[in-house]
Amino acid sequence: MRIGVLTGGGDVPGLNAAIRAVARRSFIYGYEVRAIKNGWGGLVEGNIVPLTRSMISGILHVGGTILGASRTNPFRDKALARICLDHFQEFGLDAIVAIGGEDTLGVATRFYEEYELPVVGVPKTMDNDVRGTDYCIGFDTAVTTVTDALDKLHTTASAHHRAIVVEVMGRHAGWVAIIGGLAGGADYIFTPEVEGSLEDLCEHVQNRWRQGSTFSIIVVSEGARIKEIAYSEEELGARDEFGHVRLDRRGLAETVAKEIERRTGFEARSVVLGHLQRGGSPTVFDRVLATRLGVHAVELVKDKQFGYMAALQGNKVVSVPLKEATSGIKTVDVELYELARTFF
Ligand code: F6P
Repeated sequence: MRIGVLTGGGDVPGLNAAIRAVARRSFIYGYEVRAIKNGWGGLVEGNIVPLTRSMISGILHVGGTILGASRTNPFRDKALARICLDHFQEFGLDAIVAIGGEDTLGVATRFYEEYELPVVGVPKTMDNDVRGTDYCIGFDTAVTTVTDALDKLHTTASAHHRAIVVEVMGRHAGWVAIIGGLAGGADYIFTPEVEGSLEDLCEHVQNRWRQGSTFSIIVVSEGARIKEIAYSEEELGARDEFGHVRLDRRGLAETVAKEIERRTGFEARSVVLGHLQRGGSPTVFDRVLATRLGVHAVELVKDKQFGYMAALQGNKVVSVPLKEATSGIKTVDVELYELARTFF
């Protein structure tokens, strides 16, 4: 058995832990492992090399991915998808473990459904928006970074009696904003799931001031819906191969901070956490999650249960059909947002 492993989409801490788990479990069964470099791009280009024991040594705690990542979509052109199938044969692969989010796993689903390619998935994305799993690798580390940042911003905001608007990633799901905001004691959160308003925010900031809290921490998700701020993806420039625009180009945090100053007269600043949320060492939770999901992926391959994704439901690792996992994104329940509102 020769297993190819790849990591696609945005990197997150915990990817190396997952790669190590896939390799270590494979070696126990006497399987060979191949590193498919830079996501699906490596299968398109035939950039595939043996993954050896020494390559996976000492990587458990290291962020990034030793395989490299890309947002290559082989289905942007059917000819590329065909080349991938040829390379699969040429490099003698028997299975692929695709570690990624909705895009990478979406490609895995198509390869399995349309070409019966023996592929299994492992969910990773700091956005935490893959269906069928409670958690994706990288989310816990990202919200831990957000929480640390909010703790630090609280002290300076309070010392200077300012509002600080903190922009976080998450694309079309507010997991990072809502969980990070809850854990970091945000005084207001804007998220994609529930439309917020600047009027409501400013009234809230003013009320806080009247009640003696002369500072406010506002978390805004890059994909948030805010009544008074127009949102047209067309104006945000080029799209990637999966059709996504760069949401950081909205400059939401700065716009919200300026509006707070204009509408309330209070001093406001903005901070964009950006790719810091995808850096550093993985948390304990992400290391263990990545390890459990990576091992399970090899079990799926061993049992020839292709077209499935290793997932965490409750505290159990389960197998979920890739088709189900990629049927849409998993957004945050409104109840959780309502819970966060208790602390506004
Ligand atoms: O999907 C993960 C993610 O970090 C999103 O939250 C964000 O919108 C996007 O990737 C940023 O992508 P890039 O690193 O390509 O700018």
